[in-house]
Amino acid sequence: QNERDSQFIVSDWAKNHYHRLLLNSEEGMSIGYGYLKERGLNLTTIQQFELGYSLDSWDDLLKAAEAAGYDKKYLEKTGLTVIRTDDQGHDTGRRYDRFRGRVMFPIHNISGRVVGFGARTLKRDDKMAKYLNSPESDIYHKSDVLYGLFQARQAIRTEEMCYLVEGYLDVLSLYQGGIKNVVASSGTSLTEGQIRLIKRYSDNVTVLYDGDAAGIKASLRGTDLLLEGGLNVRVVLFPNGDDPDSYIRKVGDQRFTEYIENQSQDFITFKTTLVAREASGDPVKKAEAIRDVLHSIAKVPDAIKRSVFLQQTSATFGIDEQVLITEYNKLVKAPAA
Ligand code: CTP
Ligand code: MN
Ligand code: MN
Ligand code: MN
Ligand code: MN
Repeated sequence: QNERDSQFIVSDWAKNHYHRLLLNSEEGMSIGYGYLKERGLNLTTIQQFELGYSLDSWDDLLKAAEAAGYDKKYLEKTGLTVIRTDDQGHDTGRRYDRFRGRVMFPIHNISGRVVGFGARTLKRDDKMAKYLNSPESDIYHKSDVLYGLFQARQAIRTEEMCYLVEGYLDVLSLYQGGIKNVVASSGTSLTEGQIRLIKRYSDNVTVLYDGDAAGIKASLRGTDLLLEGGLNVRVVLFPNGDDPDSYIRKVGDQRFTEYIENQSQDFITFKTTLVAREASGDPVKKAEAIRDVLHSIAKVPDAIKRSVFLQQTSATFGIDEQVLITEYNKLVKAPAA
């Protein structure tokens, strides 16, 4: 049995421990399960995603692991426990649980094995980070994982499309609402590893980011990477202040599905209209905006698609197509454009 196996085994055990606490302990049921119920999640979803609860205690997991005969070394290596240091920062030899009093979201790899956890605080206290995540380990590489992919992978194949959202709760609410082809980047900007993962199942991605300025910016930046990966990218924007989870809770499954189907637009088209609107009336800004869009178009590997996008961009900006193509050719030839 090697190092990685031991880390998988202890993670699986911890997942079961947290899941049991959520459904069978007094604290877990009243606080953890109560919270998830309040957020609209049902028992089926909780079980499908193996959600859990960590007791508000310094050493519940540590003690349970000890009692069950697990080597504490692996708790530490997977980040389930944290080293207690003294004033000089030296290891005191003592450990405590990393996750305390939080709802636990196990993160599965595509074979369904637990590699890490996301954990949400239930306190409204601002000092507390809303989410804590497992640190990198031998089995958990944050940049190679998409939350929900294990549960979503069949649906992504059959629907021939993958919805990409920001957060854990977005995945859970959509999945429960019948939109099962959904995965989350977990807040970070998308990586090449994550894009390769999606591509194993589908070439089509629809990005559903939070309807705030940060969400829109993230969708512009992260999306160029999706284009480079050769994916067809569509985007849906939500009303300001809503994310996919809050919006589906507000309007219901049926209207949500209609909304994303009606509102989804091709990414380049979306970006073109957005930057064109922002630059309207200012010729210098307009020229910049056009170059910005041309950079995105240059990322599209398919030549036919590129030429369709160039046509469309010339129409949106009211620029002669030949002029645009000349500019485009200059730009792709320029080193480090
Ligand atoms: N995230 C994180 N650490 C944080 C904040 C966010 O890892 N301190 C990640 C989580 O994966 C989170 C995602 O980024 O799900 C999106 O963040 P946000 O929109 O702030 O949270 P929500 O998922 O909407 O969570 P909630 O609805 O519970 O507030
Ligand atoms: Mn790796
Ligand atoms: Mn957000
Ligand atoms: Mn959100
Ligand atoms: Mn949310």
